Amino acid sequence: MINLEQLKKQALSAVKSAKDAKALESLRVRFLGREKGELTKILRSLGTLPLEDKRKLGPQANALRQELETAFNKKLEELKVNSQKSGVGVDITMPGKKVSVGHLHILTQVEKQVRDIFKALNFSVVEGPEVETEYYNFDALNIPKDHPARDMWDTFWILQNRIKNQESRIKNEKMLLRTHTSPVQVRYMENHQPPFQIIVPGRVFRFEATDASHEINFHQVEGLMVGKDVNLANFKFVMREFFRRLFGEDIKLRYRPSYFPFVEPGLEIDIWYERGKLRRPEGSESRPKASGWLEIMGAGMVHPHVFEAARYNPRDLQGFAFGLGLERIAMIKYNIPDIRMFYSGDLRFIKQF
Ligand code: PHE
Repeated sequence: MINLEQLKKQALSAVKSAKDAKALESLRVRFLGREKGELTKILRSLGTLPLEDKRKLGPQANALRQELETAFNKKLEELKVNSQKSGVGVDITMPGKKVSVGHLHILTQVEKQVRDIFKALNFSVVEGPEVETEYYNFDALNIPKDHPARDMWDTFWILQNRIKNQESRIKNEKMLLRTHTSPVQVRYMENHQPPFQIIVPGRVFRFEATDASHEINFHQVEGLMVGKDVNLANFKFVMREFFRRLFGEDIKLRYRPSYFPFVEPGLEIDIWYERGKLRRPEGSESRPKASGWLEIMGAGMVHPHVFEAARYNPRDLQGFAFGLGLERIAMIKYNIPDIRMFYSGDLRFIKQF
């Protein structure tokens, strides 16, 4: 009598303990092989059996074949996965998976470009505190208390009882988040003698409503060059050189008279923006509407009062100062339509640069 049950047990336990694909294949031949497979032979012999046995055994044998085939295939998959895990059978000619490493934020990149250009022009890079005293942010820059010019900077004041700085506490001095990098002008001059030329990259804060071109926190690069006869012509040379290296040969600049309490004369620089020349970031609908002049920085010749605050003799010295917005520069150079994108943390934006 044909014992299908026993055959099934035998086959399944053999499959279970097969060590590798080769062993499994010889088991497949043994049980399901076309010529001499044990089950194949049974199936083939069904024709010689009496009708009643045929009816009974036929479907059972066929079902068993199905079951064994499934078991073989499953085991083969298992063996493949295991051998990959253990490193055997790995195809080392397959292309590797790329590891994605991070990169510098676009603002950091632009700041570095700016630093590198000024360093090449023999400027030193210095820094100052983000939490500043009222004195350095305003008074020393020729902006007295109660002077309407203070309205040019919407200020975050620090609550008096939060001030940790002992000295400021004792002097009952007011503190704030610096509204510009200009206070570092005075801080630097207090400790250094001219001639010198410095830039001061840094974060600044303004208590303003945000929109596409305003943020409460943004970045500036201050510049200051002081010497016996540093003049506006020197300033214009440095600016031309800077913008040419940053934006390219055919840059157009415009100097406009303006007012800042710590410079005299004061001016603003505009840059000519050529529509469609710079690339549009992926996903942004807006392109700058038209070509035109864009305000890019404030500047001027250092006011004598500022030299006095640093205990310099204004009769002996001259200098120029400027302050540019880093985001502005990045927005123009890379055609970024909204300043808030820089701080959104949105990877779709960040990955474009
Ligand atoms: N500190 C000015 C501002 O933030 C810019 C400036 C710097 C103007 C230096 C003149 C000279 O608006």
